[in-house]
Parts: sequence; structure tokens; C-alpha cells
Amino acid sequence: MVRGWRIRLHFISAAILSAMTGAPASATELPDGEALGFVEGVCTGCHGVSTITGSSGYDAQGWLDLTSTMIDLSGVPEERAQAMEYLALHFPPNRDRAPDLRPGDALIRFTEWVTPTLGQRSRDPIEAEDGSIWWAGQWGNLIGRINPETGEMTEYLLPPDSMPHSVTLDASGNVWYTGNKNGTIGKFDPATEEITVFDMPDPKARDPHTAIFDANGILWFTLQQSNMIGRLDPGSGDIRLARMKTPGARPYGIKIDAEGFPWIACNGSNCLVRVDPETMALTEVKLPHPKTKVRRLDIDSDGNIWFVNSSLGRIGRFQPDTGEITEWPSPSGPDSHPYALAVVDGIVWYNESRRRPDALVRFDPATEQFQSWAIPSGEVYAGIVRHMRPARDGGLLIHQSSTNRIIKVDIGPAVD
Ligand code: HEC
Repeated sequence: MVRGWRIRLHFISAAILSAMTGAPASATELPDGEALGFVEGVCTGCHGVSTITGSSGYDAQGWLDLTSTMIDLSGVPEERAQAMEYLALHFPPNRDRAPDLRPGDALIRFTEWVTPTLGQRSRDPIEAEDGSIWWAGQWGNLIGRINPETGEMTEYLLPPDSMPHSVTLDASGNVWYTGNKNGTIGKFDPATEEITVFDMPDPKARDPHTAIFDANGILWFTLQQSNMIGRLDPGSGDIRLARMKTPGARPYGIKIDAEGFPWIACNGSNCLVRVDPETMALTEVKLPHPKTKVRRLDIDSDGNIWFVNSSLGRIGRFQPDTGEITEWPSPSGPDSHPYALAVVDGIVWYNESRRRPDALVRFDPATEQFQSWAIPSGEVYAGIVRHMRPARDGGLLIHQSSTNRIIKVDIGPAVD
């Protein structure tokens, strides 16, 4: 079913946003202190306190830098100062989750943009043909556009409860988002600012997650908790769904190979899945270790499938022509939780999301060498890359979800 929706340009306050997200109250206790009530009051609207107790810690200025991208407390300067002192006293900088950063010869440069709506969980940047960068502000229920030439950013509020998990682009430059909370796919036309909403044909298909277009203009998407794969034909609006073979496989990342076959990463099981684009028949590739869970994958120019073994802290390669599977341990170890992954010019890029700083890792399959960098968020290190995609100039688009950062990574000698 297709519905029309007219977009409004919109900015919302963090207070409203907190109420909207309705995140669960936390299970972990914060230590006593004069600022306890205030911190609990303003910091648990979007996430639990375990986010704070498990953090890498900061000094008072660092806590202010970090939380200023989540909530604006400038109206209550005294309480804010007391809260930051309280946080710095009980959660000073620690190296509990420090990455094992590897030196190397490759040169990169980070360029950061801070998205406007606070605490929006900005993510999944993708570059359009005109050079603009689109992102999803999942908790802000919005999508946004950056003009990298001017730094100008525009946010577009989506129909209620869309909570977009991701954005992708079609060949005409329309921006498609996955309505993760209300079981929809939306198409945003940048020229008219109109949104067309496509409802799922089955109420069990609840949570469209990550989407990608194939060369024929068909939109393929995963539905993680629903354990399904979806196919949307924009011409007819027709949506078809297929259920994963393995219960709880939790289809997550998705990419299309050179022959037009979608490949799916299983975030709940040790599998990769190939989809027949005509029949939607699924072919499952079992990965060696039963405890493997794969967030994301990408495909190199030889047709090899590269994947993160998130649960075991490795990266892997599946060679469809031989069936061979090879894995390499990630530098920061078995619990480093590699998450997003993209292949750029034959080099595999991914991040170690359980480390603080979250490390951006470069792996060269030819030399089997790793090199890694701490991903910045202004003056602090915080956040996770949840999806990365190549930029058009051979660089990489990443983000830091905790600090509203969309980040471009320039790669190569020119950045020196
Ligand atoms: C409006 C929503 C919102 C509010 C209010 C909020 N946060 Fe956050 N916070 C976020 C988001 C979004 C993330 C990233 C979560 C994710 O990626 O899953 C985050 C992540 C964090 C992190 C993890 C940083 C890391 O290492 O990645 C810490 C620590 C944190 N918040 C502290 C606080 C504190 C302290 C307060 C109160 C002063 C606060 N937050 C209030 C939205 C919010």
C-alpha cells in the first residue's frame, strides 16, 4: 500500500526527542552525589545509565563536549556544571576498552560535520551524485542532507514513528529510508520534498532495517527481528517478502553482487545468505564457527564476500567460486566487535565498535597487514560506526552515533 506525505522542515528540541524515544529505564545504578537526581533526570530519556557507567570516562570538559551533542543544558548552567563535575569524579578517563591501534604507511584525514538535532543517533551517510551527503537521524525521526561545499545542513522530519534505520539512494536521486519502527519504507523526493510511504504487506514484517538498490532499480531490504528479506518494486509499489531459513538469523547488512544477487549478513547466526533476485529463493552459506554473528558485509571486484565476524572479533572472506572461507583476528581482540565494513579499491575498511576510541581499521588482503586509527568526535572519542559506505572520490563515509557526527574519511597520499 502506498501513501503520500508532505514533508516539513523541522527542528525539535532534545526534551521532546527524549519523550519520543521512550528508551527503557536503566538497570545499573549511578553513585550517590548531589547531582545524582539531575543526571538521572536528564540522561536517561534516550538510553540507560549503563551507557554512562560503561563509558570510557572523561574530565568535566570532556563530559560537556560529549553530552552537548545529546542535550542542551545551557539554560541551567549551575546544574550543568555540577552534573559534569559529578560525571568526571565518578567516571574519569579510563583505558578499559582502549583499542590496539596498529601503525602503518597509509594516510587518511577525517572531516566531521555535527548534525543539528541533538541526540538523534545520526548514522548511515551516503553520497548523492551531486556531492551532497544524506544521513538517517534514527532517534530524531528524520533524514538530513549536508552540502559539503558550504557545510549547510537540512533536516526533514519523517511521518510519526518512522525511526529510520538507514537511507539509500535510487538512480534518480530520491532518498529512500527504512521505517524501522512503523514497518514502512519511505521515498523522499528532494525536488518536491514529498514523501511516499510504502506499508509492509504482512503485519509480521515489522522492522525494515538496511536497504540497497540493484542495477534494475529494485529495492532490497533486510528486516532483522522479523527474520525476513524484502523486495520493493518502485514502479508498481509491489513488495515481496521471504522468510530466512534459519530461525533467529536476524538479517542485517545487505549488498548486491556483480550478477545482481543480493547477499545478506546474519546478525543472529553463523550464515551469509544469497538471494535469487527472480524467485527470492535463499541459499545459505554456513560460516565455520557456530558462535559467529555477522553485522555487515561487502563484495570486492573479484566477487569475494568480505564480512565482519562481530561476535568473535574477526574479519572474514568467503570466495563463492571455491567455497573457501578465511578469517583473520582483528587487532583489538575477540571482543572488539567489528561492525561496519566496506571495500574500497581492494582494501577492506571496518571498525572495532566495542573499543573506545572506536577504531577505524584498514586491512590489505595482499599483504594481510592491519593499520588502524582512533575515530575522533571533536575533542573527545565516543560513538560507533554502524554502517560505512564508499564516497565517490575513493574515500569513505562513516559516522559516530553518540556525538551526532557524520564523517568523511579521505584516503591516500593527497591528504598529507
Ligand atoms: C536526546 C537523546 C539523549 C539524551 C537526553 C542523552 N543522550 Fe547520551 N547518547 C545519545 C545517543 C543517540 C547515543 C548513542 C547511542 C547509540 O549509538 O546506540 C548516546 C550515547 C551516550 C554515551 C556513550 C558514548 C560512547 O562511548 O559512545 C554516553 C557516555 C552518554 N550518551 C552519556 C549521556 C549523558 C551523561 C547524558 C545526560 C547529560 C545523556 N547521555 C543524555 C542520546 C542521548
